[in-house]
Amino acid sequence: MDFFDLRKQPHLLGKVVVAVLLIVVCVFILKQSPAFTGTSLFSRREIGVTHVLVTGGAGYIGSHATLRLLKDSCRVTVVDNLSRGNIGAIKVLQKLFPEPGRLQFIFADLGDAKAVDCIFAQNTFDAVMHFAAVAYVGESTIEPLRYYHNITSNTLVILESMAKHGVKTLIYSSTCATYGEPEKMPITEETPQSPINPYGKAKKMAEDIIIDFAKTTDLAVMILRYFNVIGSDPEGRLGEAPRPELREQGRISGACFDAARGIIPGLKVKGTDYSTRDGTCIRDYIDVSDLVDAHVKALGKAKPKSIGIYNVGTGKGRSVKEFVEACKKATGVEIKVDYLGRRPGDYAEVYSDPSKIKRELNWTAKYTDLEKSLRIAWTWQKSHRNGYSTASPISS
Ligand SMILES: NC(=O)c1ccc[n+]([C@@H]2O[C@H](COP(=O)([O-])OP(=O)(O)OC[C@H]3O[C@@H](n4cnc5c(N)ncnc54)[C@H](O)[C@@H]3O)[C@@H](O)[C@H]2O)c1
Ligand SMILES: *[C@@H]1O[C@H](CO)[C@@H](O)[C@H](O)[C@H]1NC(C)=O
Ligand SMILES: *[C@@H]1O[C@H](CO)[C@@H](O)[C@H](O)[C@H]1NC(C)=O
Ligand SMILES: *[C@@H]1O[C@H](CO)[C@@H](O)[C@H](O)[C@H]1NC(C)=O
Repeated sequence: MDFFDLRKQPHLLGKVVVAVLLIVVCVFILKQSPAFTGTSLFSRREIGVTHVLVTGGAGYIGSHATLRLLKDSCRVTVVDNLSRGNIGAIKVLQKLFPEPGRLQFIFADLGDAKAVDCIFAQNTFDAVMHFAAVAYVGESTIEPLRYYHNITSNTLVILESMAKHGVKTLIYSSTCATYGEPEKMPITEETPQSPINPYGKAKKMAEDIIIDFAKTTDLAVMILRYFNVIGSDPEGRLGEAPRPELREQGRISGACFDAARGIIPGLKVKGTDYSTRDGTCIRDYIDVSDLVDAHVKALGKAKPKSIGIYNVGTGKGRSVKEFVEACKKATGVEIKVDYLGRRPGDYAEVYSDPSKIKRELNWTAKYTDLEKSLRIAWTWQKSHRNGYSTASPISS
């Protein structure tokens, strides 16, 4: 038979004793460490303290949201697998809020349902702000599965854990890309959603799953559909630092700054014959500080058994030409601009009607001076040439 008598195996007995001792020592050390959930502040509910799980908190928007939540005295757990975010942003935040029970970072992949379940089991969250996602329209058309997996499927994982562990409030990062190419501008929350790329579709599916599920529970849900996000922390502590390999996918502000720094030779504006005031595309640029404020207001107004859906934009469209002019002024660099033909899949005009969020959440955009938002972002970019890996002191 396979089992054996320990008494006849003195070496084995010794090994077993050593192993047991080691385990005891490990558990003891873990219990001493503040990260051990058994004794962690993050595992306890505390009257008057809102504990928010921020997924994707090492990313651009998530890190800014974490900063604001910490400033507002929340307790924050960031979950991120750093596939696109920066540990440097977390380090900045930890330095600003070093006290125990303020900020913890957990390295985990939201696609790993077991890991996520474990995180929910070991921490008591009052609310979830779900930012983690992959977020480039162009990339989504080339790698759709990456998008359905990391947006739709991961949102399902979060919802299942929330349900299992009784977490009742969700603020979800959605996008104007869920609307597709609406016929009428501005876009209201009633504008029909018919997304035209896998990114928009994956977000729309995630929204649908959230809404269907919320209807069967007492969940409090806020879905925020952001327009084009720009800017960074006015105090220069955080910025936008996408991976170098993602630069190409990047957004217009990143491209402007790269051109101003000479990393790329100039800007390529694609399409000058749209039926807009100057022929270039029109978009609604929302400053990240305003966006984060919308999340805080949404969190404050979230009610059980209710689903709030809001556009988060300024309500004002700016043309690409206007954007480039603002960027030239903000950076003081005479950026070289090439005007090229249209890029397939771009639509002429997208801007929001933000009246619902003003009416219901008392939120309006305050950072509406494009040049000023870009100047703030530029200040950070200039002093962080390699993103978070070199944080040289800010020069003017
Ligand atoms: N930036 C915009 O203009 C914009 C516009 C509309 C909507 N959004 C939405 O806002 C949210 C945040 O966008 P962002 O611009 O800050 O992007 P980002 O790439 O800077 O941040 C996303 C973060 O999520 C993390 N992440 C991704 N997949 C993960 C996974 N499987 N497990 C754990 N972590 C994971 C990444 O590491 C990264 O830190 C996204 O949901 C995005 O779709 C952004
Ligand atoms: C992050 O998560 C993705 C799945 O979404 C996975 O493919 C990738 O390997 C993970 N990266 C790290 C560093 O864990
Ligand atoms: C997303 O999902 C795909 C699987 O489709 C995986 O290979 C990839 O690494 C995931 N993560 C990210 C951040 O793209
Ligand atoms: C709405 O917000 C403004 C500040 O932006 C504040 O002064 C005002 O009191 C708020 N109104 C309500 C009803 O909360």
